[in-house]
Amino acid sequence: MADLLQASAVSVRFGGVAALSEADFTVPQGRIASLIGPNGAGKTTLFNAITGMVAAASGSVRLAGRDLTGLPPHLRARAGVVRTFQNLQLFTNMSVLENVMTGAHRRLGYGVLAAVLKLPAYWRGEREAGAIARECLAFVGLSDLADAPAGDLPYGKQRLLEMARALAADPVLLLLDEPAAGLNPRETKALGQLIRRMRDERGVTVALVEHDMDLVMGISDEITVLSFGRVIARGAPGEVQQNPEVVAAYLGGGEE
Ligand SMILES: Nc1ncnc2c1ncn2[C@@H]1O[C@H](COP(=O)(O)OP(=O)(O)O)[C@@H](O)[C@H]1O
Ligand SMILES: [Mg+2]
Repeated sequence: MADLLQASAVSVRFGGVAALSEADFTVPQGRIASLIGPNGAGKTTLFNAITGMVAAASGSVRLAGRDLTGLPPHLRARAGVVRTFQNLQLFTNMSVLENVMTGAHRRLGYGVLAAVLKLPAYWRGEREAGAIARECLAFVGLSDLADAPAGDLPYGKQRLLEMARALAADPVLLLLDEPAAGLNPRETKALGQLIRRMRDERGVTVALVEHDMDLVMGISDEITVLSFGRVIARGAPGEVQQNPEVVAAYLGGGEE
Protein backbone atom coordinates (compact mmCIF):
# COMPACT_ATOMS: atom_id res chain seq x y z
CA MET A 1 0.00 0.00 0.00
CA ALA A 2 1.33 3.44 -0.90
CA ASP A 3 2.19 5.85 1.89
CA LEU A 4 -0.41 8.56 2.41
CA LEU A 5 1.84 10.47 4.80
CA GLN A 6 5.56 10.74 4.31
CA ALA A 7 7.40 12.79 6.91
CA SER A 8 11.08 12.59 6.04
CA ALA A 9 14.18 13.58 8.02
CA VAL A 10 12.23 16.04 10.17
CA SER A 11 14.37 17.99 12.64
CA VAL A 12 12.98 20.42 15.22
CA ARG A 13 14.97 22.44 17.73
CA PHE A 14 13.73 24.38 20.75
CA GLY A 15 16.56 26.72 21.66
CA GLY A 16 19.47 24.39 22.33
CA VAL A 17 17.32 21.26 22.60
CA ALA A 18 17.02 18.94 19.60
CA ALA A 19 13.43 17.72 20.05
CA LEU A 20 13.54 15.78 16.76
CA SER A 21 16.58 14.68 14.78
CA GLU A 22 16.02 13.58 11.19
CA ALA A 23 12.90 11.62 12.11
CA ASP A 24 11.10 9.62 9.42
CA PHE A 25 7.45 8.67 9.89
CA THR A 26 5.17 7.21 7.25
CA VAL A 27 1.54 6.14 7.32
CA PRO A 28 0.29 3.85 4.54
CA GLN A 29 -3.04 4.75 2.95
CA GLY A 30 -5.93 3.18 4.86
CA ARG A 31 -3.81 1.94 7.75
CA ILE A 32 -3.29 2.74 11.42
CA ALA A 33 0.34 3.63 12.15
CA SER A 34 1.44 4.38 15.69
CA LEU A 35 4.21 6.48 17.08
CA ILE A 36 5.44 5.41 20.50
CA GLY A 37 8.29 6.32 22.81
CA PRO A 38 9.01 7.49 26.35
CA ASN A 39 7.80 10.86 27.63
CA GLY A 40 9.63 13.72 25.94
CA ALA A 41 10.73 11.55 23.00
CA GLY A 42 9.29 14.05 20.50
CA LYS A 43 5.98 12.41 19.54
CA THR A 44 3.79 15.49 19.95
CA THR A 45 6.49 17.61 18.31
CA LEU A 46 6.40 15.35 15.26
CA PHE A 47 2.61 15.73 15.08
CA ASN A 48 3.08 19.51 15.40
CA ALA A 49 5.60 19.44 12.55
CA ILE A 50 3.16 17.43 10.41
CA THR A 51 0.28 19.85 11.05
CA GLY A 52 2.51 22.93 10.66
CA MET A 53 2.12 24.06 14.27
CA VAL A 54 5.89 24.08 14.80
CA ALA A 55 8.43 25.01 12.17
CA ALA A 56 10.84 22.23 11.29
CA ALA A 57 14.49 23.21 10.88
CA SER A 58 14.73 20.66 8.08
CA GLY A 59 12.87 17.79 6.51
CA SER A 60 9.71 17.44 4.45
CA VAL A 61 6.07 16.47 4.87
CA ARG A 62 4.11 15.00 1.98
CA LEU A 63 0.46 13.95 1.86
CA ALA A 64 -0.54 11.71 -1.03
CA GLY A 65 2.59 12.89 -2.80
CA ARG A 66 1.73 16.58 -2.35
CA ASP A 67 4.43 18.63 -0.64
CA LEU A 68 2.98 20.34 2.46
CA THR A 69 6.35 21.46 3.83
CA GLY A 70 6.23 25.10 4.87
CA LEU A 71 2.45 25.47 4.47
CA PRO A 72 0.58 27.09 7.38
CA PRO A 73 -1.68 24.85 9.52
CA HIS A 74 -4.98 25.96 7.93
CA LEU A 75 -3.83 24.93 4.46
CA ARG A 76 -2.70 21.54 5.76
CA ALA A 77 -6.10 21.20 7.43
CA ARG A 78 -7.76 22.06 4.13
CA ALA A 79 -5.76 19.24 2.54
CA GLY A 80 -7.36 16.90 5.10
CA VAL A 81 -4.82 16.79 7.92
CA VAL A 82 -6.93 16.77 11.11
CA ARG A 83 -5.73 16.23 14.67
CA THR A 84 -6.83 15.83 18.25
CA PHE A 85 -4.85 17.08 21.22
CA GLN A 86 -3.20 15.39 24.18
CA ASN A 87 -5.14 17.77 26.43
CA LEU A 88 -8.79 18.09 25.46
CA GLN A 89 -9.56 21.36 23.71
CA LEU A 90 -13.34 21.50 23.79
CA PHE A 91 -15.56 24.57 24.08
CA THR A 92 -16.98 23.60 27.47
CA ASN A 93 -19.78 26.22 27.49
CA MET A 94 -21.06 25.25 24.07
CA SER A 95 -23.35 22.28 23.49
CA VAL A 96 -22.02 18.93 22.36
CA LEU A 97 -23.62 19.48 18.94
CA GLU A 98 -22.12 22.97 18.57
CA ASN A 99 -18.68 21.60 19.38
CA VAL A 100 -18.96 19.08 16.58
CA MET A 101 -20.31 21.77 14.23
CA THR A 102 -17.05 23.72 14.68
CA GLY A 103 -15.32 20.73 13.09
CA ALA A 104 -17.79 20.64 10.19
CA HIS A 105 -17.38 24.34 9.41
CA ARG A 106 -13.96 23.68 7.97
CA ARG A 107 -15.50 22.01 4.96
CA LEU A 108 -18.43 24.34 4.27
CA GLY A 109 -16.57 27.24 2.78
CA TYR A 110 -18.91 30.21 3.00
CA GLY A 111 -17.07 33.44 3.72
CA VAL A 112 -16.86 35.52 6.90
CA LEU A 113 -19.05 38.16 5.25
CA ALA A 114 -21.87 35.67 4.70
CA ALA A 115 -21.62 34.70 8.37
CA VAL A 116 -21.56 38.29 9.68
CA LEU A 117 -24.46 39.40 7.45
CA LYS A 118 -26.26 36.09 7.99
CA LEU A 119 -26.81 35.68 4.25
CA PRO A 120 -28.71 32.66 2.92
CA ALA A 121 -25.38 30.87 2.34
CA TYR A 122 -24.74 31.13 6.07
CA TRP A 123 -28.04 29.50 7.03
CA ARG A 124 -27.59 26.77 4.44
CA GLY A 125 -24.10 26.20 5.85
CA GLU A 126 -25.43 26.06 9.41
CA ARG A 127 -28.06 23.50 8.44
CA GLU A 128 -25.48 21.42 6.64
CA ALA A 129 -23.02 21.66 9.55
CA GLY A 130 -25.79 20.59 11.92
CA ALA A 131 -26.61 17.56 9.78
CA ILE A 132 -22.96 16.54 9.51
CA ALA A 133 -22.49 17.02 13.27
CA ARG A 134 -25.54 14.90 14.15
CA GLU A 135 -24.34 12.14 11.90
CA CYS A 136 -20.86 12.20 13.50
CA LEU A 137 -22.37 12.17 17.00
CA ALA A 138 -24.36 9.09 16.01
CA PHE A 139 -21.18 7.46 14.73
CA VAL A 140 -19.44 7.81 18.11
CA GLY A 141 -22.61 7.04 20.10
CA LEU A 142 -23.28 10.46 21.62
CA SER A 143 -26.60 11.36 19.92
CA ASP A 144 -28.47 11.41 23.23
CA LEU A 145 -26.19 14.11 24.59
CA ALA A 146 -26.30 16.50 21.61
CA ASP A 147 -27.86 19.37 23.58
CA ALA A 148 -25.86 19.01 26.80
CA PRO A 149 -23.11 21.52 27.56
CA ALA A 150 -19.83 19.83 26.57
CA GLY A 151 -18.35 20.62 30.00
CA ASP A 152 -21.06 18.56 31.73
CA LEU A 153 -20.01 15.33 30.01
CA PRO A 154 -17.97 12.79 31.96
CA TYR A 155 -14.36 12.72 30.84
CA GLY A 156 -14.63 9.54 28.76
CA LYS A 157 -17.50 11.00 26.76
CA GLN A 158 -15.59 14.27 26.24
CA ARG A 159 -12.90 12.15 24.58
CA LEU A 160 -15.56 10.68 22.27
CA LEU A 161 -16.83 14.18 21.54
CA GLU A 162 -13.36 15.16 20.45
CA MET A 163 -13.35 12.19 18.07
CA ALA A 164 -16.74 13.23 16.64
CA ARG A 165 -15.48 16.77 16.06
CA ALA A 166 -12.39 15.47 14.27
CA LEU A 167 -14.55 13.19 12.12
CA ALA A 168 -16.81 16.14 11.19
CA ALA A 169 -13.79 17.83 9.63
CA ASP A 170 -13.68 14.98 7.08
CA PRO A 171 -10.09 13.87 7.74
CA VAL A 172 -7.94 12.28 5.09
CA LEU A 173 -5.24 11.77 7.72
CA LEU A 174 -6.29 11.81 11.37
CA LEU A 175 -3.58 12.39 13.98
CA LEU A 176 -4.62 11.23 17.45
CA ASP A 177 -2.39 12.39 20.31
CA GLU A 178 -2.93 10.10 23.30
CA PRO A 179 -6.68 9.65 22.77
CA ALA A 180 -6.89 7.04 25.56
CA ALA A 181 -5.27 9.24 28.22
CA GLY A 182 -7.45 9.14 31.33
CA LEU A 183 -9.78 6.42 30.01
CA ASN A 184 -10.50 3.23 31.94
CA PRO A 185 -9.82 -0.18 30.33
CA ARG A 186 -13.39 -0.60 29.11
CA GLU A 187 -13.45 2.88 27.54
CA THR A 188 -10.02 2.27 26.00
CA LYS A 189 -11.22 -0.93 24.36
CA ALA A 190 -14.27 0.87 22.94
CA LEU A 191 -12.02 3.66 21.67
CA GLY A 192 -9.88 1.11 19.82
CA GLN A 193 -12.99 -0.23 18.12
CA LEU A 194 -14.07 3.31 17.21
CA ILE A 195 -10.67 4.10 15.65
CA ARG A 196 -10.91 0.89 13.61
CA ARG A 197 -14.42 1.81 12.44
CA MET A 198 -13.21 5.26 11.40
CA ARG A 199 -10.68 3.56 9.19
CA ASP A 200 -12.89 0.74 7.90
CA GLU A 201 -16.18 2.61 7.42
CA ARG A 202 -14.93 6.14 6.69
CA GLY A 203 -11.67 5.41 4.94
CA VAL A 204 -9.70 7.54 7.40
CA THR A 205 -5.97 6.89 7.61
CA VAL A 206 -4.80 7.15 11.23
CA ALA A 207 -1.58 8.19 12.95
CA LEU A 208 -1.73 7.34 16.65
CA VAL A 209 0.40 8.48 19.56
CA GLU A 210 -0.51 6.41 22.59
CA HIS A 211 0.97 5.07 25.83
CA ASP A 212 -1.57 2.29 26.32
CA MET A 213 0.38 -0.63 24.85
CA ASP A 214 -2.62 -2.99 24.68
CA LEU A 215 -4.38 -0.46 22.47
CA VAL A 216 -1.29 0.23 20.35
CA MET A 217 -0.41 -3.42 19.85
CA GLY A 218 -4.06 -4.31 19.21
CA ILE A 219 -4.90 -1.85 16.43
CA SER A 220 -1.64 -0.78 14.78
CA ASP A 221 -0.61 -2.02 11.37
CA GLU A 222 2.86 -0.66 12.00
CA ILE A 223 4.73 1.11 14.75
CA THR A 224 7.52 3.69 14.75
CA VAL A 225 9.51 4.10 17.97
CA LEU A 226 11.05 7.42 18.97
CA SER A 227 13.64 7.91 21.69
CA PHE A 228 15.24 11.29 22.40
CA GLY A 229 13.98 12.64 19.07
CA ARG A 230 15.37 9.80 16.97
CA VAL A 231 13.61 6.87 15.34
CA ILE A 232 15.10 3.73 16.90
CA ALA A 233 12.79 1.09 15.43
CA ARG A 234 9.99 0.57 12.98
CA GLY A 235 7.93 -2.49 12.09
CA ALA A 236 4.91 -4.63 12.81
CA PRO A 237 3.74 -4.70 16.47
CA GLY A 238 5.29 -8.12 17.13
CA GLU A 239 8.66 -7.08 15.74
CA VAL A 240 8.83 -3.82 17.64
CA GLN A 241 7.82 -5.44 20.93
CA GLN A 242 10.77 -7.80 20.76
CA ASN A 243 13.33 -5.24 19.68
CA PRO A 244 15.98 -5.03 22.46
CA GLU A 245 16.66 -1.35 21.76
CA VAL A 246 12.97 -0.56 22.22
CA VAL A 247 12.78 -2.50 25.47
CA ALA A 248 15.89 -0.67 26.72
CA ALA A 249 14.48 2.74 25.74
CA TYR A 250 11.33 2.08 27.71
CA LEU A 251 13.14 0.72 30.76
CA GLY A 252 15.50 3.69 30.70
CA GLY A 253 12.82 6.27 29.88
CA GLY A 254 10.17 5.18 32.35
CA GLU A 255 7.08 4.01 30.53
CA GLU A 256 3.84 5.36 32.00
N1 LIG B 1 7.22 24.53 22.78
C1 LIG B 1 8.30 23.95 23.30
N2 LIG B 1 9.34 24.70 23.75
C2 LIG B 1 10.45 24.13 24.25
N3 LIG B 1 10.64 22.81 24.36
C3 LIG B 1 9.66 22.00 23.92
C4 LIG B 1 8.44 22.52 23.38
N4 LIG B 1 7.64 21.49 23.04
C5 LIG B 1 8.33 20.37 23.35
N5 LIG B 1 9.54 20.68 23.89
C6 LIG B 1 10.55 19.71 24.29
O1 LIG B 1 10.78 18.84 23.20
C7 LIG B 1 10.94 17.51 23.66
C8 LIG B 1 9.89 16.62 23.04
O2 LIG B 1 8.61 16.96 23.59
P1 LIG B 1 7.26 16.28 23.09
O3 LIG B 1 7.23 16.29 21.62
O4 LIG B 1 6.16 16.96 23.81
O5 LIG B 1 7.43 14.79 23.62
P2 LIG B 1 6.36 13.59 23.74
O6 LIG B 1 5.10 14.04 23.09
O7 LIG B 1 7.02 12.43 23.08
O8 LIG B 1 6.18 13.35 25.21
C9 LIG B 1 10.90 17.55 25.18
O9 LIG B 1 12.20 17.65 25.66
C10 LIG B 1 10.11 18.81 25.44
O10 LIG B 1 10.43 19.35 26.68
MG1 LIG C 1 3.16 14.26 23.80
